[in-house]
Amino acid sequence: VALTAISPTDLRRAAEAISEELTADRRHIHMHPELGFEEVETSKYIAKRLGEIGVTHRTGVAKTGVVATIGGTAGAGKTVLLRADMDALPIVEQVESAYKSLNPGVMHACGHDAHTAVLLGAAKVLQERRHEFAGTVKLVFQPSEERPPGGAIRMIEEGVMDGPKVDAAFGLHVTPQLEAGQLGYKAGPANAASDRFQITIHGKGGHAARPNACVDAVVIASQVVVALQTLVSRETSPTQPAVVTVGAIHAGDANNVIPGEATILGTVRTYDPDLRQQMKERLTEMSKGIAAAMRARAEVEYTFGYPSLVNDAAMTELARAAGAEVVGAQNVVEVEATLGGEDMAYFLQRAPGCFFRLGTGNRARGITYGNHHPKFDVEEAALPVGVAAMVNTALCFLASGS
Ligand code: NI
Repeated sequence: VALTAISPTDLRRAAEAISEELTADRRHIHMHPELGFEEVETSKYIAKRLGEIGVTHRTGVAKTGVVATIGGTAGAGKTVLLRADMDALPIVEQVESAYKSLNPGVMHACGHDAHTAVLLGAAKVLQERRHEFAGTVKLVFQPSEERPPGGAIRMIEEGVMDGPKVDAAFGLHVTPQLEAGQLGYKAGPANAASDRFQITIHGKGGHAARPNACVDAVVIASQVVVALQTLVSRETSPTQPAVVTVGAIHAGDANNVIPGEATILGTVRTYDPDLRQQMKERLTEMSKGIAAAMRARAEVEYTFGYPSLVNDAAMTELARAAGAEVVGAQNVVEVEATLGGEDMAYFLQRAPGCFFRLGTGNRARGITYGNHHPKFDVEEAALPVGVAAMVNTALCFLASGS
């Protein structure tokens, strides 16, 4: 039994019918990648395409963001938000293709080009079928997902969840871990809170042969790094996921000098908000305590990044059922949560919804490299699948209850 008046088979066909446009959009954006809050050309391109499709839109939201609204003409109803992120990464592309990045050192290595193309496709299909549904679809093209504090929170501050008020929010992310034609879902926490820290050890530098006259920042930093490992192994419930990673240590320049200062940089990932807070407190106490015990002083800067992304259970079921209608139940996969960060989390804090995965791998063609890899690529046959899944999910939500 179809969940909406519009047949999913028809939707899939409508999405397949615009495959060439989807590929052209994705390739254009891929060739002209821009970093967070610098998506000037990307924003213009999106506005131009929305204009061609005939969709009302607003530019300059959160600097380079674009918001389009499509009102179903079958009546008033609820409002559903569909989101795509637009920014690229500071990576030198290593994929040799006709659509290789023309902006040296910048690359769409996380598939946000595909997300944007999919949302443009969804705009087209929804606009053509607006007489067939009641309610409103808000299409949000969001800047700067890769750079916290990110574009989502800024769009929310500029009112994207209001006028009309958003009742549910959906988005997708490409992944080569699923093959093109597959969709992945996970209810509950799906992405981790992603926080970072900088610990500066202030000791006392001096001659390598006179350690007694110094307070060795290298030795103290080493103790701190080892001690931080116990935050997860000894202080966190084994049933609560958490990661503490030290990604950089900077100290000293010479073999025969004791440095008076050392800097430790790292990240903490958690799902649980209480554990998130606890990590901040204990990391700070531990660093300061160890430094003090060793006659030094630790300064800790702890910055909260994106919160944990939580998929609403009922909305995930709705999205999963909508996805199954367009790809078949055998192509719907239960995916694992990741400890990667994602600022779609902010939309999902304010409206129930689901962030799901679109398979864009193709093992036969060697499209297997992970997100953020310089050889990352997307199987473009997945683009219409993404369009059909997004549109059907939005329509199923609008048709659900009232
Ligand atoms: Ni991404």
